[in-house]
Amino acid sequence: MTENKKLNIGLIGFGVVGEGIYNVLQQTPTLNATIKKICIKHASKKRNAPQELFTTNVESLLDDDSINVIVELIDDADAAYKIVTTALRNKKHVVSANKKMIAAHLQELLMLQKENEVSLLYEAAVCGSIPVIRNLEEYYDNDLLNSFSGIVNGSTNFILTKMKEEGLSYENALKQAQQLGFAESNPALDVEGKDAVNKLTIVLQHAYGITTKPETIVHKGITQLHRSDTKYAAEKNYNIKLVANARRIDDDKIVAFVLPTFVESKNQLYHIRNEFNGVLIGSKLADEQFLYGKGAGRYPTSSAVLSDIAALRYDYKYEYKKTKSNAHKYQLSNDFLLKIFVSFNQDAEINVSFFDSIEDRYFNKNRNHLVGFISLNNLQKADWFNDETVSVIAFDGDDNKISTNTFLHETILN
Ligand SMILES: NC(=O)c1ccc[n+]([C@@H]2O[C@H](COP(=O)([O-])OP(=O)(O)OC[C@H]3O[C@@H](n4cnc5c(N)ncnc54)[C@H](OP(=O)(O)O)[C@@H]3O)[C@@H](O)[C@H]2O)c1
Repeated sequence: MTENKKLNIGLIGFGVVGEGIYNVLQQTPTLNATIKKICIKHASKKRNAPQELFTTNVESLLDDDSINVIVELIDDADAAYKIVTTALRNKKHVVSANKKMIAAHLQELLMLQKENEVSLLYEAAVCGSIPVIRNLEEYYDNDLLNSFSGIVNGSTNFILTKMKEEGLSYENALKQAQQLGFAESNPALDVEGKDAVNKLTIVLQHAYGITTKPETIVHKGITQLHRSDTKYAAEKNYNIKLVANARRIDDDKIVAFVLPTFVESKNQLYHIRNEFNGVLIGSKLADEQFLYGKGAGRYPTSSAVLSDIAALRYDYKYEYKKTKSNAHKYQLSNDFLLKIFVSFNQDAEINVSFFDSIEDRYFNKNRNHLVGFISLNNLQKADWFNDETVSVIAFDGDDNKISTNTFLHETILN
């Protein structure tokens, strides 16, 4: 495509983001991008756009030779997979925001782009309006990336903020998030940490060239957090945040996990409130940098989709340079010692043999807790890790900047 090439868009989905991008494109005539047809699911819904644009027949867009760009903005990951793969095979460029679909099929999507010499862009899939992917892909290409840590899910951050600042229970904070439109009516993807781990999977591809599946990454959401955890955090002046992490722990090893985390006030993530997102990037030369903004919502998300559409005018493609590079071949590793806090009810059994060491034990008739060091390998194996009555919270800060498990502590318990 040349600079003046006209973009004829087939838009699929006319919901929060789809209608947003439709409105934005009407106001950006200089882009030379026109929406030729819009595919939706329910024909009878009233739409704020001319009726003749709409169809429920997706093939009529995918088979239309005059459409050279498909913008996929639907809420069904399985249908999106079929649409996006067909569009790429039909040699159309694609813009998508569907993190679940992209994270689940990254390897195949990379291959299809290459085989068909077309571009698939998905900036909106990670942190909505914050330019994370293109930054990791292009800007941090040469400078060695030491770490990525971020609040990448707005719904959970909203809930955690309300629990801390207004003393709401998890259930009430969730209800408020749903009423204000920050959480889905079925919030499982968000609160169980799945959405964050989908985003981290995409980040690993662009930060380190690692192609992996979300289910291989250790993760836990916020559903099991207990009032006593919030109290403990307040006493120590921590904020609890759901943090997605990727860190270089060796010349060729990357550790990745998503866990509720006690964040210290000197960390920028501590100060991110409500539905906002933020990402800290640690690099060898530039030290630490911080990106902050809106991770969701009609127009913030549309801004990232618009940026991808605009990039197609100059033939922009993710080159996946780090995936192809021989200079650094990174692998995921769970050989990493993490300091964690585990809280549990009287009747729960916590097998402490999974720990390398225990620093603190607290027993109380309402709730018990342990603080100790555990390898990510063992955390993943521990039966209590997936127990919904057990809280597992990582510690941020200097404790976990130690990158190998060669050091160790006083008590090894069995
Ligand atoms: N909302 C955000 O802030 C945000 C932020 C970042 C990323 N995203 C991602 O953006 C995508 C869209 O989200 P959204 O919030 O805009 O969703 P939404 O408001 O629920 O809208 C979904 C749209 O998709 C249409 N649709 C569903 N299945 C379809 C199918 N099989 N064929 C054609 N159309 C279909 C629906 O049609 P009807 O109108 O006929 O029902 C609706 O117009 C998702 O992947 C989401 O994860 C959203």
